[in-house]
Amino acid sequence: ASGGHELPSFHHPNTKGGPTCAVIALKCPHIAVTIVDLNQARIDAWNSPDFALPIYEPGLEEVVRQARGRNLFFSTDVDKAIQEADLIFVSVNTPTKKSGVGAGFGADLHYVESATRRIAAVATSSKIVVEKSTVPCRTAESMRTILEANCKPGCRFDILSNPEFLAEGTAIGDLFKPDRVLIGSLQTQEGKDACAGLAGVYANWVPKDRILTVGLWSSELSKLAANAMLAQRISSINALSAICEATGANIDEVAHAVGFDSRVGPKFLRASVGFGGSCFQKDILNLVYLSESLHLPQVAEYWRQVVEMNEYQKSRFSKSVVDTLFNTITGKHIAVLGFAFKADTGDTRESPAITIVRDFLAERAYVTIYDPKVDEAQIWQDLSEACPSLSLEQIKKQVTIAHSALDACKQKEAIVIATEWKEFREIDWQTVYDDMTKPAFVFDGRLLVDADKLRQIGFKVKVIGRGE
Ligand code: UGA
Repeated sequence: ASGGHELPSFHHPNTKGGPTCAVIALKCPHIAVTIVDLNQARIDAWNSPDFALPIYEPGLEEVVRQARGRNLFFSTDVDKAIQEADLIFVSVNTPTKKSGVGAGFGADLHYVESATRRIAAVATSSKIVVEKSTVPCRTAESMRTILEANCKPGCRFDILSNPEFLAEGTAIGDLFKPDRVLIGSLQTQEGKDACAGLAGVYANWVPKDRILTVGLWSSELSKLAANAMLAQRISSINALSAICEATGANIDEVAHAVGFDSRVGPKFLRASVGFGGSCFQKDILNLVYLSESLHLPQVAEYWRQVVEMNEYQKSRFSKSVVDTLFNTITGKHIAVLGFAFKADTGDTRESPAITIVRDFLAERAYVTIYDPKVDEAQIWQDLSEACPSLSLEQIKKQVTIAHSALDACKQKEAIVIATEWKEFREIDWQTVYDDMTKPAFVFDGRLLVDADKLRQIGFKVKVIGRGE
């Protein structure tokens, strides 16, 4: 990873490989970075003259504007990029398996394996191969076996694990100033040398004491562990939110009081309609699967509960909407504000909004959805997948997509806030109220609204984790 060399990245439809490598290019002008993807349309988007990038991520466009064409390149020529590179990041998707052994739990390593085989087949010189995708423990070992069994004379492959900890919506800030960079390697001399090479890339902008070097398997497990523990915090606070609603306590106050303990800390304790995103559920299920295959059923069961609590939170929320609307929403009109799994992203993977809308459709309600960043086509696709018993035509009879929050709320009986977009804080609630069917309900799944103010206008308000 020294001057003039290239870092290609296998980049399947994921939201992290692109931003990560773009930031490496920005921070290391002496290193040529090539992001490769088999998907021509995606590469064209990365290269588009008006910077219509394939993913929405605040600050990303600015990074690409500065580095593209200088030392950051986007290409579909995977083989050429492999041949020219010293260091290769494999950051392909590792979705949960849909069929076969481990279906519903284990990671589908098909993309990792094909990327690895391609590197072995094409490489004509030694490479450091960096596993960036989140993978089950010991995947690096499989990659190493494939590479070693297929390499040409004179080619050496060193494998590193370098999991990514950025969160969507704050990716660029997280990459500029990471809490830590984690690099796992074999504890051999060659492994340590490869590790030092990658650490040298990050050292261009990350303080040395934040670059942690560990064993290969610790690194792989740490990634799953970090996500599992973050998700567990949310499930814990969400479990408490149910107690708050039943007792009249206020989850904000509880989270604040608990988080004040410096051992717990205040972050990531925000009650919600449930966590979403492509990582938490998938990584926990991976951990569950791993625990089961290691014959640790109690450990598996412990982590499985984090996902189950999340499912419970989502269904509890849908049920509270139905209960509050006089036990039926059949034929009623409901606005759902937000469809992304969190604010500042257009990503809808595992978004709790999908589950909520599915539940409303099952009750035969009419739903109008508004999200500032999610494509219409994505919403139709997500709902089709979530409601396999309904045709798209049937779904479209019940669902409308609006182009503003105000439009979405017109003449509705209830408004559901599913994503904490900043613009929903600035809604003119009086105007919304005037245009709604009465009694007008607001269900806040994101602790976003000023409930007292809304009540003064006349709304009936229900907020996650508040007993009133
Ligand atoms: C998560 C981790 O935070 C990253 O560190 C990790 O790198 C990433 O997964 C990954 O493995 O790729 P991400 O899923 O992008 O990042 O977003 P988060 O900010 O973690 O939010 C996940 C979900 O939890 C969202 O639906 C969010 O609304 C919800 N959440 C988060 C809460 O309900 N309450 C909170 O206090 C925080």
